[in-house]
Amino acid sequence: MVGSLVKLYTDRFIMTPGPTEIPYRVKLALMKESTNPDLDPDFLRVYNETREKLKHVLNVREGSIYVMTGEAMLGLEAAIANTVKDGTRVLVIANGVFGEGFADLIKAYGGEPLIVENCEECWRRSADPSVIDRELEKHRDIEVVTLVHCDTPSGILNNLVEVGKVVRDHGSLLIVDAVSSIGGVPVDFDKAEVDILIGGSQKALNTPPGLTIMAISERAWDRIEKINYRGFYLDLKTWRDMLDNRGIFPYTMCDVLIYALNESIKMIMEEGLENVHRRHLLAMKASWRALEALNLNPYPSSMNYSSPTVTAFEPPKGINSEELRKIIWEKYGVMIAGSWGRLMGKVLRVGHMGVQASRTHVLSAFTALARALRDLGYSVNIGKVAEAIEEEFK
Ligand SMILES: Cc1ncc(COP(=O)(O)O)c(C=O)c1O
Repeated sequence: MVGSLVKLYTDRFIMTPGPTEIPYRVKLALMKESTNPDLDPDFLRVYNETREKLKHVLNVREGSIYVMTGEAMLGLEAAIANTVKDGTRVLVIANGVFGEGFADLIKAYGGEPLIVENCEECWRRSADPSVIDRELEKHRDIEVVTLVHCDTPSGILNNLVEVGKVVRDHGSLLIVDAVSSIGGVPVDFDKAEVDILIGGSQKALNTPPGLTIMAISERAWDRIEKINYRGFYLDLKTWRDMLDNRGIFPYTMCDVLIYALNESIKMIMEEGLENVHRRHLLAMKASWRALEALNLNPYPSSMNYSSPTVTAFEPPKGINSEELRKIIWEKYGVMIAGSWGRLMGKVLRVGHMGVQASRTHVLSAFTALARALRDLGYSVNIGKVAEAIEEEFK
């Protein structure tokens, strides 16, 4: 009985690429007493403090930052709704499920997506800035470009600064989905000259789902004014006019989620941004070495293209990925993820985001994977897997 309780309640590791594990300090922040967030000056103070900390984490000096109640799709849709109208030509860098997905949002607002970097091989590598340069040169009427920093379903990381430079040279507006990179990978809003950057709470920030982070440049505000989105809930001008100019929230915030996010960013700043990023890199390298020890193929064609927040790989031929995942969770207590879209059933993923980017977590995930593979008749050397991970973290 005791054994089964231990297994159920303490020996469980959530190693998915979001939602992620909630650390103890963040859990405590979630338990803070709720007041009326519209009326409580202390809540407004913590909200603004969280915005300032995010400015530091994302290196936003000139732009605005908002944290909205609603998961990251809210921010993605708001970014498109406020910058795209009927006939707007948008370059969609589509080397992944979310990259490709931007096209649907753009069409929903009357825009015309031009999809690039959507080939079989493109999905296994970072987007090529020279292709983006060529397309922007060829199509001078492109006003907006969309990019996903870390395309979570394939574990690919795009080079924000390089793509940002090309887009700026052509004078287009750059919208970036950084949902699964913030807090695990350097995100430099100013250096990359991003115009709208969107984040979420449930990835490397180890906070429950339910918050969207948005950073908006001065250039983006000019376009937002010009487009003058006529909808209501997604109108970003409302946030600027009410919150920045009058200190009033447009809608009722979920205060405890803000307390939780604030605590999570405090933890990141205490550890130091560089240390946090280094720890994620170690987790990625250890994961790749574990895959090598298991004779499994990573999905990205090189570690240079891989995101330090998630490792995507192909299950061995003849092994059903869902059956494998089920054993890893039910028998060994580690939750890893499958994938989405055209990668469903073909790719498995281990998230190492935030507190999950640790030696213990990576060891637990890959030794559980190794044991489950052995259960299914695949030949593995579990000691070699553990050794490879330990070597990387030593
Ligand atoms: C890169 C990326 N963008 C957007 C989202 C959507 O986030 P949410 O589910 O919070 O709306 C996800 C979620 O997995 C993601 O990985």
